[in-house]
Amino acid sequence: MDQSILFKPLKMGDVELPNRICMAALTRQRCELKDLVPTDMIVQYYGLRAEAGFILTECVPISQRSLAFPGEPGIYTKEQVEGWKKVVDNVHSKGGRIYAQVWHAGRASLSTLQDGLEIWGPSPIKIRGIHRRGLIEHEVPHEMTIDEIHEVIKQFRQAAENCKEAGFDGVELHGAHGYIIDQFLRDSSNKRTDEYGGSVENRSKLCLQVIDEFISVFGNGRVGIKISPVGRLNDQCDSDPLKLYTHLVKELEKKKIAFIEVKDDNDPANLFDFGYPSSKEQIPDLFEVFRPLFSGILLANNQYTPATAIEGIEKGRFDAVTFGRLFISNPDLVERVRNGYELNTNWDVDTFYTKGIKGYLDYPLYSQKQK
Ligand code: PHB
Repeated sequence: MDQSILFKPLKMGDVELPNRICMAALTRQRCELKDLVPTDMIVQYYGLRAEAGFILTECVPISQRSLAFPGEPGIYTKEQVEGWKKVVDNVHSKGGRIYAQVWHAGRASLSTLQDGLEIWGPSPIKIRGIHRRGLIEHEVPHEMTIDEIHEVIKQFRQAAENCKEAGFDGVELHGAHGYIIDQFLRDSSNKRTDEYGGSVENRSKLCLQVIDEFISVFGNGRVGIKISPVGRLNDQCDSDPLKLYTHLVKELEKKKIAFIEVKDDNDPANLFDFGYPSSKEQIPDLFEVFRPLFSGILLANNQYTPATAIEGIEKGRFDAVTFGRLFISNPDLVERVRNGYELNTNWDVDTFYTKGIKGYLDYPLYSQKQK
């Protein structure tokens, strides 16, 4: 396999990536519940992956009300910002680049994690099925008022300022997977009749307003977004995703943001049995649609391998790939791909969301394995 295209440097907005093997956001939940501050273990974990084209952090909550996964490190207290500084400094000291994935879970959040604060969402419609991290049902969210929407926009802005203070190279807005931005975008969760609901322009409004805040803090060359136009996670579906995301991507193109990360969903049928059409039935080829609309960097995400990454980049479908699970079990993924070493595909799902170093810091580097 000729992997040289994966090592062709890439200019992503203001930042030069030395390779196209990027690290996707991965929920790991290793913080103490009491403060959600990144610990030394987390500093080490990200530092081990500094060779990535760039690192996206796990989804980082912007407020107490936005929490959905116990132990995810936040970015809304001074202590959390100090903790992230150590992570960023460690990655930088090893020559790497790291962006925060900035996140609010909206109707997917858990009131048990937030001292009983009310759950907020665009419309009072709950996610069907049980919560991704517990045997509990989701709650019916409170339908946010315009003032509450503005409050959340301010919190997103403050989070971006905090990310800047922590030294992050940039930010990615989490606009995918049925969290708050996606909840406003798609019409299975947004039934509003005001300026934030109805037309594709109105449903895109919150997303674009938050992007504007991020740009005013970081500049457009250091801002990106993740989207999942046909993903079904968290009970999501749009009745016309082609229309919605064509509009959104055209607006993002006008703002000249640095990158769009596209979750390339392939639910053969409706994965969660909610009666929605399959992903491929709605948009058979996401990159065929978005590549002509967006001149910035397109990142492909979801179950790519080095071989499928090379194929997609060579065909001009996207520019780089964010790898998830492969980066969990191969901290030195870039070195392994460069040298054609075997990849460890024995990631341990049972340790994805537990505490401690097991399945977190104990995957051997290739060189260690050889000893
Ligand atoms: C998860 O932890 O299950 C999770 C978190 C963020 C996502 C998707 C899934 O974007």
